[in-house]
Amino acid sequence: MNKEIILTGDRPTGKLHLGHYIGSLRNRVKLQDTGKYDSFIMIADQQALTDNARNPEKIRKSLIEVTLDYLAVGIDPTKSTIFVQSQIQELNELTMHYLNLVTVSRLNRNPTVKEEIKLRNFENSIPAGFLIYPVSQAADITAFKANLVPVGEDQLPMIEQSREIVRTFNSIYGNVLVEPKAMVPEDTLGRLPGIDGKAKMSKSLGNAIYISDEADVITKKIMSMYTDPNHIRVSDPGKVEGNTVFVYLDAFCKDKEQVINLKEHYKRGGLGDVKVKRYLNEVIQAELEPIRKRRSEFEKDIDYVYKVLKEGSGKAREVASKTTKEVREAIGIEYF
Ligand code: TRP
Repeated sequence: MNKEIILTGDRPTGKLHLGHYIGSLRNRVKLQDTGKYDSFIMIADQQALTDNARNPEKIRKSLIEVTLDYLAVGIDPTKSTIFVQSQIQELNELTMHYLNLVTVSRLNRNPTVKEEIKLRNFENSIPAGFLIYPVSQAADITAFKANLVPVGEDQLPMIEQSREIVRTFNSIYGNVLVEPKAMVPEDTLGRLPGIDGKAKMSKSLGNAIYISDEADVITKKIMSMYTDPNHIRVSDPGKVEGNTVFVYLDAFCKDKEQVINLKEHYKRGGLGDVKVKRYLNEVIQAELEPIRKRRSEFEKDIDYVYKVLKEGSGKAREVASKTTKEVREAIGIEYF
């Protein structure tokens, strides 16, 4: 039986945080360990460069940080192929072919890209490479004939654009490419907010807890978390919805009954923020401690980390080059 093929990726622009962990990493390990899939996990350094061209050092450094985070959470290079986007030249060729199948107005309509352009104040100075990154993302996915792409909600427009490209390509040149499906993990509760309660955990907002944070740093961050601003005295009834501490408990605590009890108590009044935060701290520390330990072991052997990436990239390249040959044949430019 042919295994289903999964491709996912992250831009290396910094260390990964708990938002990544809850939103995707945890799920990737679970999928990997079922043994039911061929998993490709790509570090999208070239995509990261589309808005960091003047700061390649950040991307170089983050490549290793992200790989360490992967290995630490349990992505296993003997089960998943971890590779680096920029090392797969074939992706660039596929991108060029696909660009001919996409209009500029379609690129301008991608809602995620539009949002990112606004956030970066790019309005009048969009790097062309940035505008077309959804097309290069279609190359990432189709090069491996991935049928499943586990992503967060913000990536759905990319998958949609990839599907369009595949349909257009196949209708013109014959059935070569596989139409991918997005796989939004069913156990996500949407996005994990930052410790300040803001919708998104991000480095620029300074509200993230990193997978690699030391225990005392994590404690400090948890103890400073945004809760219910109207819950002033311990005896006051408190609000659970939108209360960061409870959102995190929902995401991390395996003892669901305990969470229900704590919520009830908090809503009734008589349960202080400090107490809930201490409990959350215990839960998160227990989950992250073994991860941090593993990470520090891998940190001692950066040569090994590069070796993982090199071997993974070699494997990925074989697959991508096979697809690219088929694409060239289908277009009719494999002349010799
Ligand atoms: N755009 C993704 C992000 O910002 C990273 C990415 C690049 C990706 N290529 C991909 C994700 C292919 C899934 C499939 O996180």
